[in-house]
This record gives sequence, structure tokens and C-alpha cells, in this order.
Amino acid sequence: MRVLGIETSCDETSAAVVEGDEAGASLRSLVILSQDVHRIFGGVVPELASRAHVTALPAVTRQALADAGLGMDQVDAIAVTNAPGLVGALLVGVAFAKGLAAPRGIPVLGVHHMEGHLFGTELEDPAAKPPFTALLVSGGHTLLIDVTEWGTYRLLGSTRDDAAGEAFDKVAKLLGLPYPGGRPIEQLAATATNAGPRFARPMLHGGQRPGDADYYDVSFSGLKTAVLHAVRDAESRQALDAERAAIARAFQDALIDTLAAKVARAAQAFGRTRVVLGGGVACNRSLVAGITTAVRDAMGAACAVHAPSPRIATDNAAMIARAGLFRLLRGERSDAALNAFATLPIPGLVPHSASAA
Ligand code: KG4
Ligand code: ZN
Repeated sequence: MRVLGIETSCDETSAAVVEGDEAGASLRSLVILSQDVHRIFGGVVPELASRAHVTALPAVTRQALADAGLGMDQVDAIAVTNAPGLVGALLVGVAFAKGLAAPRGIPVLGVHHMEGHLFGTELEDPAAKPPFTALLVSGGHTLLIDVTEWGTYRLLGSTRDDAAGEAFDKVAKLLGLPYPGGRPIEQLAATATNAGPRFARPMLHGGQRPGDADYYDVSFSGLKTAVLHAVRDAESRQALDAERAAIARAFQDALIDTLAAKVARAAQAFGRTRVVLGGGVACNRSLVAGITTAVRDAMGAACAVHAPSPRIATDNAAMIARAGLFRLLRGERSDAALNAFATLPIPGLVPHSASAA
């Protein structure tokens, strides 16, 4: 089965072809066009994103098919992100997918963007299969999920305020770094020569017990405020240039410690020896290292952390095609009424009862 994937939920216009069956899937092609226009505004401007998708999507799709060496008549289905994201941007992809599929009589499958992130890593690393503990960390989401099998997801924790990527982006702004801020902060933090301030680890203390509402949840807005105070203090002493790297490092350390501890709690509670990461923040090598150390401390050396490469960690259509293939093989199809939604729960969520962990 060959699935063409389309992703337009935010500021990447992407198309990809994935081929596979019940035994596994492989990537035939992936094209990602990043919309640079948003950099000058310091954030994604929804109307500009929609228009750029309209302009780019036909050419991006043609290129993905050409790279795969396939014509449209050799594709069995189209998978398209239909939630969550910028609704105008999503609609461009959904309308385009329907327009391509209808005259050819092939099915369209609406795919949840975050389910795509769960599947992405397995395309590069076949060992990243359920059961596993998943941490999805992007600009809009921070989700800790126990995946018993594909399609069955127990949401353990999420952020109470800012997403992890959003925290990186906002702290980068405070430090005078460009948008998006994750990579600039990682690079600057690596140059820090002294420890800098120690920020409190948000939502993390030894008194928390499984079943407590904050056992798996995270929160980053307090950490952001702590950075703001540190920046103001350094500025008042004309020391920001000297201390910028140490502040970036201190912020990154606090965020990583918190996420790593929560992932280790989840892996331990459910006895998972695999941890799968996804989302743009999973590009951060210190985060991957911090999580690896924490889960090995908790679960032993046999525990493996599977992190995607940057092009699969950030938004892309390959993960959408992969998740779509899974749903296609289960016999699922979307109908002509398929719509786009700014928010939507991940399909296959099962309740997390406190007694389970
Ligand atoms: O998954 P993604 O590409 O888009 C969303 O769905 O949001 O994630 C983008 C986020 C941005 O907030 C960006 O700053 C962050 O991922 N990011 C990073 C790194 N590279 C990208 N955060 C930390 N370290 C990085 N190296
Ligand atoms: Zn994403």
C-alpha cells in the first residue's frame, strides 16, 4: 500500500510518500518547505501561513511524487492532517487532498497531527514500536502518553500552561535570540562556562505520588518568569552579555530535568523499556541525553530512548502518511464531509485511571 501524506497544520508545507503493510512501513520520499516569512514577525501569522500553503502545496506534492518515482495513479490513499492546528492552514491541506482523491476514486484519511508525531520515529527506527512511553514536545503541545499498542493511547500528563517549545521560543525572545528559539538556546547553552542561576524545577518535588494530579503534568510559565527576573537582574548590572549563555543553560537544565523525571516516572509505572520522543523539541540533544540518563537510572541499562532525526521530529508529512497507513490498514476511511479542527482529542485515547499507576 502506498500513501501520500499532506501536512499543512502550521508553517511547514509538506508532502511525503510512505509504503508498507501490517509488518512495517518505509519512507519513499519527503519534501518539507518551511515558511521563512514568519521569522520577521517572531511567530506564525495564520493568514500568511494559509496563503503560503495554497501557493506551495501543488509543487511540494508533485516533488514528493517525483522523488518517489510514482504517479498519482500509483497511490492507494491520501492521508492529510485535519487537526489540531491553525484551522485555515489545515483547511488548505484537507481541500487539496479531497480534490486530488475524488476524481481518482481513492480514499482520504484525516490524521491527527499528534498521532503522526507518535508514528514518525518508527519510520527511521523500526524498534520504536509499542508498547512504549511517549513524550511529544512541540511548539504547541507537551504530552506524556503511554502507548500500549498503535491506536490505544493513555494520556498521562500534559502542560498546564506553555508547551515546551513555546517556553524555548519565549525565553529566546527574553534573551534577544531569534525565532524559533529552541536551536539558538541549545547552541548558546552549550557555550556556557559557568553554572549560572539555578531555577526551580517546575511541578517536580519528591512529595508527589502516583495518582496526584501533578505527578505527570508539567508547567513552564513560572520558569519563564524566573528567566525574566534573571534577565532583568543581569541587565541592571550591565551583565547580560556576560551571563546570557549561563541563563540559557540554567533554563534548559530546569526544563530537561523536569521532563526527564516525568518520563522516567511514566516508564517505571507502566514497566516500559522503550521511550519514544517526537516533536521539534526532541531535536535537542541535551534533552535526549537527560531523558536517557533518567530512564536508565529508573529502569536499568536495557531501557532505550528512541529520538527522531530533526526532519522527522519537526512537522512533516511522512509521519502523517505513516499514521494514515495504519488507519487505512485497519479499514478506516474519512468521508467527503472531512473537516479541519483547531483542537481535537487524539483518536484512541483510553482513560488514565489513577489506580493503573
Ligand atoms: O514540532 P514542531 O516543528 O512544530 C509544532 O508542531 O509546534 O516544533 C517546533 C518547536 C519550536 O518551539 C522550536 O523552538 C522547537 O520546536 N525546537 C527546539 C529545538 N529545535 C526546535 N527546541 C529545543 N531545542 C532544539 N534544538
Ligand atoms: Zn508538530
